[in-house]
Amino acid sequence: PVLVVDFGAQYAQLIARRVREANVYSEVVPHTTSIDEIAAEEPLAVILSGGPSSVYEDGAPKLDPKLFDLDIPVFGICYGFQAMANALGGTVAHTGAREYGRTDLSVSGGVLHDGLPATQPVWMSHGDGVTVAPEGFEVTATSAGAPVAAFENRARRLAGVQYHPEVLHSPHGQQVLSRFLHEIAGIPGEWTAANIADALIEQVREQVGDGRAICGLSGGVDSAVAAALVQRAIGDRLTCVFVDHGLMREGERQQVERDFVAATGARLVTVDASETFLSELSGVTDPEAKRKIIGREFIRSFEGAVSEVLGEGASKGEKVEFLVQGTLYPDVVESGGGSGTANIKSHHNVGGLPEDLQFDLVEPLRLLFKDEVRAVGRQLGLPEEIVGRQPFPGPGLGIRIIGEVTRERLEILRHADSIAREELTSAGLDGQIWQCPVVLLADVRSVGVQGDGRTYGHPIVLRPVSSEDAMTADWTRLPYETLERISTRITNEVADVNRVVLDVTSKPPGTIEWE
Ligand code: XMP
Repeated sequence: PVLVVDFGAQYAQLIARRVREANVYSEVVPHTTSIDEIAAEEPLAVILSGGPSSVYEDGAPKLDPKLFDLDIPVFGICYGFQAMANALGGTVAHTGAREYGRTDLSVSGGVLHDGLPATQPVWMSHGDGVTVAPEGFEVTATSAGAPVAAFENRARRLAGVQYHPEVLHSPHGQQVLSRFLHEIAGIPGEWTAANIADALIEQVREQVGDGRAICGLSGGVDSAVAAALVQRAIGDRLTCVFVDHGLMREGERQQVERDFVAATGARLVTVDASETFLSELSGVTDPEAKRKIIGREFIRSFEGAVSEVLGEGASKGEKVEFLVQGTLYPDVVESGGGSGTANIKSHHNVGGLPEDLQFDLVEPLRLLFKDEVRAVGRQLGLPEEIVGRQPFPGPGLGIRIIGEVTRERLEILRHADSIAREELTSAGLDGQIWQCPVVLLADVRSVGVQGDGRTYGHPIVLRPVSSEDAMTADWTRLPYETLERISTRITNEVADVNRVVLDVTSKPPGTIEWE
């Protein structure tokens, strides 16, 4: 792989994504990874990310100069660029000229920016700067606040930039990253959906051997693609299990039973566990507690389904050893699974797993981003109704009722959600939004007036977001007419709701789901 060394950047995941967009496989590792560990991965290249520190600060993450003895191509970005300059004998100083945001870059030569405009906008965010490039390096760009804004040493396959090529505000950034990977590091772009699918199928075969597996289907893209991959690998030793936890949206169960089976012909067992889930959730209001209960009950339901999966004729020693999950890279990172990252929330299938899990996990998508999963799904021939579906979290409406989850509240939310979805679809907006959680503030009431009478009802929150991979998101600017229709219909048609509000928070600082 290409390793992205994370120096505490907000952008390390994004860099990994961009590298993959250049058809090169990439993973993020924390800056505490030792040189020996890095060398053991035999990386095709190393990218040093940005970070909040100054290289001269006490406690600033250190870059081990031995990295440069490994004869591996290295690309430094922002802090990584400065750390690289510092380690190779260049000079980093407070230039006094801070640059934050859009800046003009003047290109004077080199391979990195070859064929790109001589003056181009880039996104900068730095206080310190490189003032003298290390010996043997050509300075190939400057900006008003950065006398050395890019350098390269082609013979040693080393290069770096002060700006952030990974963000969309640097319009040529993707080309610059690609040029580093392909031209300077000499890595061919071979990471494509077809190759990924083949490699993953092979991996699953190796892991499962001649064992049996069940796959938890949730109705979402991820579990559907994971199931299709595993089915390719082990055929009918896979059984899919759909757990109806009672926290589904309207029509969802029928949709899974119909679409997925039609597309794959896989064996599907449905478990109705709504009674259990709701009684376990009764009285619980804390989001993490809810997530852990839901994660645990999923597993208990899978365990309960094993005898049905094996069938009546099963002999005593027969077992299902493996559980397939559609866990994605962002789920792992946000559950604190990427080392050095905080636990933001326990995704039900990662941080929410019980400790006494009796299955070995098969998670073929664990290192992929959503768009890559979609590409693999298409490669496997899954239809657009499944592959193009908007994300929906495994814990379902359970984490969209703020407060205790009850049957009554689920009815209210399900109704409001179906109205919002119907209107977004009929306005043709599905392609513009990543997803639109509809949230019930069950413990909040406000005063309203309807039909000459006073009401004291709950607010519904609309949370439409646009995103590339759910790691960051912006609120979607929906047309007022659509918002108006949704609001009017919900307040008219849904009992106990007398107010509809719009969430206009990006991520960060908000997460996409409210819990
Ligand atoms: P957040 O709320 O963390 O959500 O910004 C990021 C994306 O992940 C989805 N999500 C989940 N998906 N199990 C899932 O399968 C979970 O526990 C879970 N929590 C959040 C969320 O809908 C969004 O797409």
